[in-house]
Amino acid sequence: MSAPTEASIARLTVRKLHPALGAEVRGIDMRRPLDAATARELQDIWMEHLVLVFPGQHVTDAEHVAFTRYFGEPEIFHQKIIRSERVKEIFRVSNVNEDGVLMPPDHPVAQQLSLAQFWHTDSSYREIPCTGALLHGVEVSRTGGETQFTNMYLVYDALSEDLKRQIEGRKAQHDFGHMHTQANLKPLTEEEKAAMPPVWQPMVRKHPVTGRKALYISPIYNDAVEGMTPDDSRRLIVELTRIAADPRFVYTHRWETDDVLMWDNRCTMHQVTPFDPRERRVMHRTTIMGQDRVMAA
Ligand SMILES: [Fe+2]
Repeated sequence: MSAPTEASIARLTVRKLHPALGAEVRGIDMRRPLDAATARELQDIWMEHLVLVFPGQHVTDAEHVAFTRYFGEPEIFHQKIIRSERVKEIFRVSNVNEDGVLMPPDHPVAQQLSLAQFWHTDSSYREIPCTGALLHGVEVSRTGGETQFTNMYLVYDALSEDLKRQIEGRKAQHDFGHMHTQANLKPLTEEEKAAMPPVWQPMVRKHPVTGRKALYISPIYNDAVEGMTPDDSRRLIVELTRIAADPRFVYTHRWETDDVLMWDNRCTMHQVTPFDPRERRVMHRTTIMGQDRVMAA
């Protein structure tokens, strides 16, 4: 009898979670190394479903980072206040500090993270934005704090011809500092601004793996659209965001402890639903560094 092939070792079960995007994947233990065939299979499942949910992953930060490396190099976040002091590749989406103490709702970190309650795609303000991210629910909230994802391929396809004409070949500006002008956040320091100057990104992008066209906006960072007045820019971003938020494109994830979610930031946006800031919510994120500039479609 022949030895089992690599591909036959993993027994992955994939269950679709929403007609537009999202699938639950069972049969993976992130605490153990992944064989090459399973890593390839996961990559294909990821490209098909855009958002993967891995339930019951009781991983350490180091294991979380190690799993991320199968899909690329982890990004190290530029703001010390968000980055973990213990494992530098971990971005702390948390209202609890590293000593386990709940932050008051007006704490600058809690305020900044609360802006994730608006649609965005991660690190679009970088010249080379990230590929995707993996978020581990360490302490999940029950008063809200669900994560919603929208499929930007489908959103692009659903746009009227008029809207498509308006955004074709156009760029929008993505400015990390723009986020800080909302919700009365403390403005960025000169050093923080210099570290992350605004960038222009195509509004319609071609996905480097699937070749499909997707709408590419990140409303919390978008402060201008090429060739448009500030008012018209704002109106256009608001209109595109409204379409992207249509429930037929959106999967809402209700977290269980030790869920790990993995999403593709090149063809999705996400936001968090409001939750009681007095309830602990500890989520650890790794971010997969991008390799190339955004390709215009
Ligand atoms: Fe995010």
